[in-house]
Amino acid sequence: MLPYYEDRSPGSGVLPPRAWFAASDARRISLHGTWRFRFAATATEHDDSFTRPDFDDSRWQNLLVPGTWALKGHGAPAYTNTAYPFPVDPPRVPDENPTGDHRHVFDLPDGWGEGPAVLHFGGVESCARVWLNGQELGHFKGSRLPHEFEVGHLLRPRGNVLAVRVHQWSSGSYLEDQDQWWLPGIFRNVTVQRRPRGSVVDHFVHAGFDHVTGEGTLRVECAPAGRVTVPELGLDLATGESATISVRPWSSEEPHLYDGELVTPGERIPLRIGFRTVRVEDGLLKVNGRRILLRGVNRHEFHPRYGRTLGPEAMRRDLVLMKRHNINAVRTSHYPPHPAFLDLCDELGLWVIDECDLETHGFGQQGWRGNPVDDERWEPALLDRARRMVERDKNHPSIVLWSLGNECGTGRGLSAMAAWMRERDPSRPLHYEGDRSCADTDVYSRMYAGHAEVERIGRREEEPLTDPELDTRRRQLPFLLCEYGHAMGNGPGGLSEYQRLFERYERCQGGFVWEWIDHGLRQLTPDGEVFHAYGGDFGEELHDGNFVCDGLVFPDRVPSPGLVEFKKVIEPVRIEGVTGGAGPGGTVRITNLHDFAGLGHLEFRWSYEVAGEGRGCGWLEVPPLAPGESAEVELTAPPVEEGDTGEAWWTVRAVLAEDTPWADAGHEVAWGQLPAPALPAPAPPEHVRAAPRRGEGNVIVLGPGTFDAGTGALRYLDGVQLTGPRLEVWRAPTDNDEGAAWLPGPHPAAEWRRIGLHRMRHRVDAVETGPDTLVVRTRVAPAATDLALRTVYRWTAEGGLLRLEVAVDPEGDWPGPLPRLGVRMAVCESLGLAQWFGGGPGEGYPDTRAAARVGRWSMPVDALQTPYVRPQENGARPDVRWAELTGSNGAGLRIEGDPHFSFTARRWPVEELTAARHTTDLTPGDRIWLYLDHAQHGIGSGSCGPGVLPQHRLEVAPARFTFGFSSLGQ
Ligand code: GAL
Repeated sequence: MLPYYEDRSPGSGVLPPRAWFAASDARRISLHGTWRFRFAATATEHDDSFTRPDFDDSRWQNLLVPGTWALKGHGAPAYTNTAYPFPVDPPRVPDENPTGDHRHVFDLPDGWGEGPAVLHFGGVESCARVWLNGQELGHFKGSRLPHEFEVGHLLRPRGNVLAVRVHQWSSGSYLEDQDQWWLPGIFRNVTVQRRPRGSVVDHFVHAGFDHVTGEGTLRVECAPAGRVTVPELGLDLATGESATISVRPWSSEEPHLYDGELVTPGERIPLRIGFRTVRVEDGLLKVNGRRILLRGVNRHEFHPRYGRTLGPEAMRRDLVLMKRHNINAVRTSHYPPHPAFLDLCDELGLWVIDECDLETHGFGQQGWRGNPVDDERWEPALLDRARRMVERDKNHPSIVLWSLGNECGTGRGLSAMAAWMRERDPSRPLHYEGDRSCADTDVYSRMYAGHAEVERIGRREEEPLTDPELDTRRRQLPFLLCEYGHAMGNGPGGLSEYQRLFERYERCQGGFVWEWIDHGLRQLTPDGEVFHAYGGDFGEELHDGNFVCDGLVFPDRVPSPGLVEFKKVIEPVRIEGVTGGAGPGGTVRITNLHDFAGLGHLEFRWSYEVAGEGRGCGWLEVPPLAPGESAEVELTAPPVEEGDTGEAWWTVRAVLAEDTPWADAGHEVAWGQLPAPALPAPAPPEHVRAAPRRGEGNVIVLGPGTFDAGTGALRYLDGVQLTGPRLEVWRAPTDNDEGAAWLPGPHPAAEWRRIGLHRMRHRVDAVETGPDTLVVRTRVAPAATDLALRTVYRWTAEGGLLRLEVAVDPEGDWPGPLPRLGVRMAVCESLGLAQWFGGGPGEGYPDTRAAARVGRWSMPVDALQTPYVRPQENGARPDVRWAELTGSNGAGLRIEGDPHFSFTARRWPVEELTAARHTTDLTPGDRIWLYLDHAQHGIGSGSCGPGVLPQHRLEVAPARFTFGFSSLGQ
């Protein structure tokens, strides 16, 4: 007989699951706070005498519940993606089974009264055995699911002793192989809830919407029977009875909730009712009769200090940030979240795929042998998980799909779960990605499919399944990407191209970027500096490194550039210039990309800038537009000022007209830029070209430049001391450059290292002076190959401007793209303020630059850095016309590009960035390193998906580009 933590059962002694509700007039107490705690390295180290009320726990330690002991100095966190960190021998677990004994003494509040009560556990990883006042209640598995015990008969007014033994590993661990930290403990709240006689045992709110009649139908099932009132609708009906009445429907865009109340003989609970109907029809996923477009993210529950324990502020912050970034959908990867999070989704408006706490991915490494989802002995555990999710969460209008789980392969256990879910809740379609046949699901879902394949699917021309019946069925299903755009480190790239496909093909109903947050755990260096730890940082013998840091927000929930890009790509209003439009200043086309909402909640503002300087701003009248409609709006004559020359741009922004629960009036939802009618070009300064001359020491002077006569290297520009410029092709590989080991290679970073792009040698072949030129001919090449880049630097000077023309001609048979192509140089550390005219304010690369807008930007060099958890290429500003670096006295260096260039400045060279493992490994040196790139290779999503699209690759080819350098304020 196996011990309870190893048997396959979901538990014993536990009450049937029921719908969760946040409030009730029945009393409840939270047991959160400081508990007593004892750690053991194995499940059997201690006997169970600690469960006796009189047990002396004075030598135990304190532990905050909810939480995980692994982040409180007992045991350690461990990260694996798919590998089980123990031998795969289901349902057995290793002897090394970290086990936490918990004790908590609590009193009941005065007047609590007699009668039934339940002890509720919101989430315990992975198996708990529970005693109250010396009586064993039972045990349970299913970490992110609720479990309750009847305890009314055991409670006493004072001095109740709750004892809980939690094991890190159990048979349940085989079902919980999600890609995340293993963090054992009582991580969600524990409460005691009075359940007076006649209180709600369970209730199910059915609130559909008929988009043809505009009516909603409400029916609330409840045991025991009671009444339901909805004052705003004048409804007062018995449970079980239905009422049809004209209502405002619920959608993610207009999340209208009606406050109601459910009253049974023993209890009153508030209801928040949202009317909506979800259907798969005409090959589409529709809500309230309309196709919806999912602009989603996958969200794990994560906090950098507390693991999977999240307070209400962190949950709200996640959702407010999502709403502010135009995100309208969440997949609760890969388990049901804290139920309060779903209440917030109802309130703020997000489509939710609620996913069951189920993943058996590690069996993939065994050829799926022994996979629990295809073994009937596990069926009770699987069904228990399905029930606990559906029963707990069934009353949320935000949930539009149930998901069976993630990455479990295929098997009859999944079919059994699906059958039960369909029976219990026919109102919601089913999702599961792991079975390509879609036999048990209602939507065709994939992860990381490349653009070309998504396009084929969009045309319903995908590769057929071998079973013709299943193939026909699947071809009629709507399609979504439950994961795409792997947001690991710098990136993801290629989002715009996906969005165009979602807009072009009605079958492609959007997707969910992987993922919302980096799971970096906050740690301190010995010097007290904060950094975020990832796999391997806790001495794990098996781990998957920083693959756990792949979110759109950093661990501290600060948006990364990826989130800013995603916001732009998915904006629900498109604002674009119309070529040849009739307006005196140009014409914009405004398109309403919402699924339900008009544009009444938005105001449109224009601004006009010349060379990045504001000349005027105002309101733009946009006619009412229904979803899908667009209109052309003429711009007025631009407010040009006398003598204006150069580049002029319109920016049109759509902002919230009024405060919402997630952002204030004025919050920008969408924007577009268009070039304004051309102004005269600035008159070129009339200077004659300077002639090079020999200076004192071994130098050549050309205009403001002083060069080393032997190497041709620039040393000074007027008084500014410089190193370089010289050709640079290396960048600190991004996670997407490194690629995923299991995807077909070779991956770009490996190729770049193989060729030796990180150790290029520069040979000077000639330093030649002409009447008004200094020409430096070089060959830039790595050892051990005949690949090379012939590079000629041609210098001229006019007035205070030093011009560098770079000509690069490849030699040899280059196997793939370059990381970057440009020059690098270094200036003194004091030039710490950057200003530029071009793309900004954030970073942007060829396939991640939708959010970069043309403007004049200024920030300290330190603020140009993006602190990816694992340091890597970051911080480039695209399409820069000119950039200046100045010190506190305003003196410094100006760089102009022809054509536009990508501008990077940082306090460490690329070699140090490449070597760093954590942000704290980077320390500012005595120089600022500048990377002025003619081009960079795109970013792509290769860390877990498709690489860089052909149009964003930096192929090796002859290139010519020019920079102008001048000194400022000398
Ligand atoms: C998917 C998986 C996620 C995560 C992601 C890569 O295969 O469903 O949980 O591992 O890949 O980060």
